[in-house]
Amino acid sequence: MSTKDLKNINMDYVDGILIVDNTGKIVYSVRYNPRFDENYKEKEYRDFINKNYLEAYPALDSEESTIINCLKSGIPIYKNNQAFQDYEGRPYNTQNLTIPIIRRGKVLGAIELSKDITSIQDLSKDYSSMKSISECVRGNSRKKNYSTVKYSFEDIITRNHEMIENINKAKLIADSPSSILVYGETGTGKELFVQSIHNDSIRRNKPFIAQNCAALPENLFESILFGSAKGAFTGAVDKQGLFEIADGGTLFLDEINSMSMNLQAKLLRVLQDGVVRRIGDSKNRKVDVRIIAAMNVDPMEAINKRCIREDLFYRLNVMSIKLVPLRKRKEDILILVNHFIKKYNILLNRQVVGISKEVEMLFSAYHWPGNVRELQHVIEGAMNIVKNGKIKMKHLPIYLSETAENISFYDEMEEIQPLNDVVEAVEKKIIVKALKKAGGNVSKAAKFLNIPRQTLQYKITKYNILVE
Ligand SMILES: Nc1ncnc2c1ncn2[C@@H]1O[C@H](COP(=O)(O)OP(=O)(O)OP(=O)(O)O)[C@@H](O)[C@H]1O
Ligand SMILES: [Mg+2]
Repeated sequence: MSTKDLKNINMDYVDGILIVDNTGKIVYSVRYNPRFDENYKEKEYRDFINKNYLEAYPALDSEESTIINCLKSGIPIYKNNQAFQDYEGRPYNTQNLTIPIIRRGKVLGAIELSKDITSIQDLSKDYSSMKSISECVRGNSRKKNYSTVKYSFEDIITRNHEMIENINKAKLIADSPSSILVYGETGTGKELFVQSIHNDSIRRNKPFIAQNCAALPENLFESILFGSAKGAFTGAVDKQGLFEIADGGTLFLDEINSMSMNLQAKLLRVLQDGVVRRIGDSKNRKVDVRIIAAMNVDPMEAINKRCIREDLFYRLNVMSIKLVPLRKRKEDILILVNHFIKKYNILLNRQVVGISKEVEMLFSAYHWPGNVRELQHVIEGAMNIVKNGKIKMKHLPIYLSETAENISFYDEMEEIQPLNDVVEAVEKKIIVKALKKAGGNVSKAAKFLNIPRQTLQYKITKYNILVE
């Protein structure tokens, strides 16, 4: 951080001080924040001490965390607005100034000064863009390397033909040292695929290092990727870059299209030569790193918009995996719904048994811009308010139930009709469609609809459907 950056720091007071050691363990935490009473402050202090930072703030991604980035880079970091939740799900927005504790060139820990800028609005904000608490709690083991692989191919739930082909292809190429580019819209499972590939490869016991390229400014990113030599720039210490840390393993570069063109050129050189040179160093170091890159835009579009260098693209795209958006694999919606219901039944101690017919119709017609992540959050949100029985329209977020009013099958209705009639009409339509797709095979159609064969048989009789 330069003296120019220091001028931009707008911290007229601090609400909290947190000190971590170099493993990310909290050794000191204090809050002066009037938002919390003394009991809470004391409880929080007890709960936080000796906990790993990412455990105390499970919704925080290691890539976004100023503490973790400061420990990794050994450079002071100032962040104007960090949004996160604590282990009890309380939302925060803070301004952070994080300063590394360095002795003889070694990062021993970091001190974070923070000012709480959480507004009333933020307190009720939908944090769906962040990792959900329950999802992160599973990933606590990250504390070792700041990134531990938690997914494998078995975690990918799908019955979509293209996605199954993607899984088969990913398994085939897992052991190859060539680069892979995974692309697909947000929430389609890119991270899931990337981790599964690493987990299935001969590199599985070697490091898996994930870095989001959108999270860091260019100058900081360069030293994080390639390392630095002492004195290379103000505050620079002798430090390995991610390439060296990932040696023998996999380096996952997420949102590669957000990396500056200049840095992309440097990355290409490392990929071609297989050697890295720390910033300010004269020594070349050989590295054996498998690169998996991901982006959520179409590669050709990214090239045309000059977000990704063409030469780097062809280097990364030796093998590519294109993930299908959820709206184009409607057959996955119900199995994913059931998968998440099962998961949150355990996590939240619920006995939810499914979704109502109306919700099912809405889910099938909705365009899911946030894909599987959005679906997961919708189920998680609903299960916070439903204890048992089915998830109904009233349990869905308002934006979704409002969307229902704009979706075509509702529009088709001239006037309000008894709900049962509408539901039955749509149900009949879907059954006819499933039977057609299954070539008249009732068991197969039942599988598509994810209902028992007997239930389908009963409905076929009830609606007097002709099976051909
Ligand atoms: N096929 C699937 N089966 C089970 N869970 C899935 C599937 N696809 C995605 N998920 C879940 O959805 C969430 C989002 O997935 P992931 O993080 O892999 O998406 P992404 O493509 O990397 O999104 P982004 O571009 O926003 O980073 C995760 O919690 C993941 O476990
Ligand atoms: Mg991702």
